[in-house]
Amino acid sequence: MCSVVGYIGKNKSKAFVLEGLSRLEYRGYDSVGFACLSQENNTIVSAKAVGGLDNLTHMFTMAHIDGFLGIGHSRWATHGQPSESNAHPHFDCQKTVAIVHNGIIENYLSLKKDLELLGHVFYSDTDTEVIAHVFEALLVATSDMENKHKTLAQVVVSLVSRLTGAYAFMALVQGYPDTLILVRQRPPLCVGIGDNEMFVASDAFAFAGKTDKVFFLPEESFAFVKKNEIQLYDFAGNALPVHMQALDLSWQDSQKNEHEHFMLKEIYEQKAVIHKTIDSLQALHDTIWDYMGITAQQIRTLDHISFIGCGTSWHAARLAQFFFEQVCKMNSSVHLASEFRYMTFFPTQHKIHLAISQSGETADTLEALRVINAHTMPTVALTNVASSTIVREAGGFLLTQAGREIAVASTKAFSTQLAALYWLAHRIALEKGLIAQADMVQACADVIYAAQVLEASIEKYKHEISAYHARKYATYSKAIFLGRNSSYPFAMEAALKLKEIAYIFAQCYPAGELKHGPLALIDEHTPVFIFSHQDSLIYHKLLSNAQEVKARNGHVVAFVFEGQDEMCALADLYFVVPNVAPLLGQLAMTGLMQFFMYAIAKELGCPIDKPRNLAKSVTVE
Ligand code: F6R
Repeated sequence: MCSVVGYIGKNKSKAFVLEGLSRLEYRGYDSVGFACLSQENNTIVSAKAVGGLDNLTHMFTMAHIDGFLGIGHSRWATHGQPSESNAHPHFDCQKTVAIVHNGIIENYLSLKKDLELLGHVFYSDTDTEVIAHVFEALLVATSDMENKHKTLAQVVVSLVSRLTGAYAFMALVQGYPDTLILVRQRPPLCVGIGDNEMFVASDAFAFAGKTDKVFFLPEESFAFVKKNEIQLYDFAGNALPVHMQALDLSWQDSQKNEHEHFMLKEIYEQKAVIHKTIDSLQALHDTIWDYMGITAQQIRTLDHISFIGCGTSWHAARLAQFFFEQVCKMNSSVHLASEFRYMTFFPTQHKIHLAISQSGETADTLEALRVINAHTMPTVALTNVASSTIVREAGGFLLTQAGREIAVASTKAFSTQLAALYWLAHRIALEKGLIAQADMVQACADVIYAAQVLEASIEKYKHEISAYHARKYATYSKAIFLGRNSSYPFAMEAALKLKEIAYIFAQCYPAGELKHGPLALIDEHTPVFIFSHQDSLIYHKLLSNAQEVKARNGHVVAFVFEGQDEMCALADLYFVVPNVAPLLGQLAMTGLMQFFMYAIAKELGCPIDKPRNLAKSVTVE
């Protein structure tokens, strides 16, 4: 989603702000802007551009714009199209206030109406612009300038009391050249503490490698950041202590190396990061329950696990449901986070809620988690980012070790989530006495083997996919995806990949539903991707579905397991993956599936790492 980056300190701000934005650009990239206080006369100067950061850096005017206090933004449009006037920073009428913002101001229309009646003139369609105008109105109304900082704190308290929504913003105010103003209601904001300089961003990744000290603003707080000091307040204006943390993030890991796209690099990293994830979980031994914020006794009496997530993380949860039901013999449920908060919540004993989120910042998942936390039910986060909001808010957490995922389309986060969830199902079963230690060891070995198959299957088919198949399947404008049992959520994930990176319309069904309506869509212009299953019964049912498709002149692309020769004989194109442990078939097939969708998108010349309209880390509901 939108990224905000700021700087105050001994150096000019532009170089850091632009570098920080470029590091976070994968999170939102439809327009970009920068503003700073000019050294000459302390006025706010700015530049904005539609599109990516390059469009801004290549602007002639940018060369002249710099100062010791600066803010920048890359946008993922919510209110108003991507355009220069809608790009951040946004200003008040006199351009004495500059705002960069992440999130949504829900009451912006009524605020705008009131401000227009007072004579304020608006130039954009954004909700953000109202923040600048409300700020301006409050500053003008403040006459007591003797105790300037107390007054500024009072102004910010009044400002936040007028805003509703889930937002975080950063402000430059002309009258306060030594202060960067940070306001966090919900989306994250953090400050990297340097030597006579402060780096500010919506994600610490923006300043990784520049400092090892970070401060995360708590929710509903604001801060005045100076080059060597942070003053923190709650929304009522009470001073709060500032708790710094160590920052352990590397920027070096995040280069594409020899790969053409981050997505391809991340597809290839899967074998190694699955291994790493399993090793790190095994290393927790019995402290696992402490990390999860649960007692071993609670685990022994656990009889229900509920998963929450969005998109690919939700697909991982749908697959994991089979792990927990079959390994732990436990009831499980899976919820889409964006729907969860509108459902009736029944607090039940002997149940844990596991929120899955690669980024740990997805607004829908965090809101669902907050609903459960409010009922004081045990919550656990499974995430890839140790410094994320979800880790701070859940009762406990587990980490995947995928490393930074840069491509917007999730790949290695998905496979490490599957690995971690398979491991957790076995660890819970062990604690409950359902399996022996030897089974636990076997489970780890099975995951590692599935990861090897994942990579070997890409290697086996990558040349023919790149040379022939991608070209052919890039010519279709739509596709149907089918699976059964655990291959159904896997087919959903495959369809999502094709949609988001290749912009090909892809509809996924549980294969058994085909005859209840979707069969009407089958024709020779619509390839049907069928994801097989290692279970013989499920495989034979899928085979019947493939026959139904072929009988209607359909075109079948089958992903099968070794020995499933009947499906191969039937299919127009097939890929064969070696057999692995019964519940890990989809993990083993993951790399090949992702590579095929990637190759189609590449053939179409799509901007694979940054697909249109999308953003990594969806911090608005
Ligand atoms: C798809 C994709 C998204 C995310 C979803 C949840 O490739 O990346 O569907 O999976 O936005 O994100 P996290 O896992 O960060 O909560």
